[in-house]
Amino acid sequence: MPVIPSLRFRIHALPGKMAGYPLRRRSTELEVSRRFRVVSKRAMATGVTRLEVEAPRVARKAKPGQFVIVRVDEEGERVPLTIAETLVDNSSIAIVFQAVGYSTQQMAMLEPGDSLADVLGPLGRPTEIHRYGRVVCVAGGLGIAFVYPEIAGFAQAGNEIIAILGARNKHLLFYMDELRALSSELHIATDDGSAGHHGLVTDVLRGLLEQGEHYDYCIATGPIPMMKATCQLTREHSLSTLVSLDPIMVDGTGMCGACRVTVGGEVKFACVDGPDFDGHLVDFDELAKRKKAFAEEEEYCRLQASADKLEEERRNE
Ligand code: FES
Repeated sequence: MPVIPSLRFRIHALPGKMAGYPLRRRSTELEVSRRFRVVSKRAMATGVTRLEVEAPRVARKAKPGQFVIVRVDEEGERVPLTIAETLVDNSSIAIVFQAVGYSTQQMAMLEPGDSLADVLGPLGRPTEIHRYGRVVCVAGGLGIAFVYPEIAGFAQAGNEIIAILGARNKHLLFYMDELRALSSELHIATDDGSAGHHGLVTDVLRGLLEQGEHYDYCIATGPIPMMKATCQLTREHSLSTLVSLDPIMVDGTGMCGACRVTVGGEVKFACVDGPDFDGHLVDFDELAKRKKAFAEEEEYCRLQASADKLEEERRNE
């Protein structure tokens, strides 16, 4: 019992503008009018969940690189999520997310048979897929979910795929079997050395390039520092690189401005003009600053979700 009051105290004690945020009660009742039924749920990695959701109209039109905007309930915030998979019968899609904020933690509590209020899409420009030859795909963290449909698309177009995947530790890696099946080589890097190379995905890429491996195209997606480091490296090797800027989107509508990015000196919005861009033209330093601007709000959402969960557990006692 004393846990909840102390959590509430911490939320209200947040400094500045966050202290004024109203506490919003999480709706636990599912609305009968919801249409986007959760077909299946799978834990992919620590804190990473895959939901298969019935959305036939989205599934029929979705292409690699596109995303949907999801709302858990009618009061929920809009969350843009990459369409990680379109299921073969074209009646459902799979979304993969990490439960880091209020809405994604709500989403992670859904079970098969529950529904999402909205699944809007497909949105964003599809990835331009051509037959380049040897395509090296570098992804880190949740970026693995973004790159999976792109790898599938490039493989289907006849490219040879060399995948370099990274995470903080082996428990955060996912889609390994699926990606191994699509790739001629799969390299793994972990920050703690618990699987594959002990270090960064860019160490692996650098090693391969220095060994004389030749690639015709590169795709990179994941945390901003990772994409920046990959692009610095590929620029040195004159290797064209596509980056997916899904991680910087907030509402996915072109209105909040959070995904504004300078590409080749021009202002673009990842959710409308992207999410894919020529990585050698992206101003990553500006992006990193923009991402930090929302850190305080994200921390508030994490605390709010934890408080709601405890409140619900207490009600169920
Ligand atoms: Fe808000 Fe693009 S995510 S404008």
